[in-house]
Amino acid sequence: MDRVRTGIKGFDEQVEGGLPKGFNILLTGLPGTGKTIFGQQFLYNNAKQGKPGVYVSLDMSDEIFREQGGQFGWDIEALEKENLLSIVKIPLNRNKISIFDTIEEEVAHIKAENMVFDSLAAFAINIEQFAVPLIYDEKVARILSTSNLGDKERFYEGKSKKRLTYLAINHLSNLKTTNLLITDHVSEDNNATIDGVSEYVSDGVVQMFDTLVGAKRVRTMTVLKMRNTNHSPYVHGFDITKEGIVVQPAEAVYQ
Ligand SMILES: Nc1ncnc2c1ncn2[C@@H]1O[C@H](COP(=O)(O)OP(=O)(O)O)[C@@H](O)[C@H]1O
Ligand SMILES: [Mg+2]
Repeated sequence: MDRVRTGIKGFDEQVEGGLPKGFNILLTGLPGTGKTIFGQQFLYNNAKQGKPGVYVSLDMSDEIFREQGGQFGWDIEALEKENLLSIVKIPLNRNKISIFDTIEEEVAHIKAENMVFDSLAAFAINIEQFAVPLIYDEKVARILSTSNLGDKERFYEGKSKKRLTYLAINHLSNLKTTNLLITDHVSEDNNATIDGVSEYVSDGVVQMFDTLVGAKRVRTMTVLKMRNTNHSPYVHGFDITKEGIVVQPAEAVYQ
């Protein structure tokens, strides 16, 4: 199995050298836990190695994205100029945007190998704005004689956030890129994510936490699921340093 190194110190060794190529990996955590930085670092490190990546943003402006990267010494703009990194800002003030077409076009345009979607939570909140096509299988359509569907039948018209998230992840998985899908973690129930569905349809789940220990908040992460991978079963402490995220070996969290 081909692995895509994130280049994040201490992370790749937790997952047999990197993320399985072409997988949909969910990155969950409450606001401020470091999900966007993790996504940026993954795209930046790969882009520096000549592997293009697309950052799809619903939450953040291009400017803030570049600024946040700049703090860690990452020249995002230089990579954008070389078509090694592309920020796709999804406008949230228009109706029935078919974001999957936009993402697909940009992935094809820069021949992206990696994609970060930030975030599924923002997508779910603004769901009414997006046109989400139903999953369309040529063979099944032929059997059912439904190959001449109009737009009305092709797009999901229902209101279920679970179904929409499910459909969205399925569409993103059709891209040949290795995808990091960011979402917010809700700790009150047993679900790993706010929508309660994306953890089941993704190939891997990485959780990020910010936990109060005494008077200090401690950053940790764990790999909850990674198909085809003998991943670390531990909770690892990590720091956000001048060079971005640095993950510690498992035992460090118990000190
Ligand atoms: N230069 C920095 N040094 C240390 N910590 C930082 C730095 N920049 C941001 N952070 C930390 O990262 C957090 C933001 O991380 P981010 O990836 O945007 O979170 P999320 O996407 O999970 O909401 C900030 O709240 C802050 O705690
Ligand atoms: Mg974020």
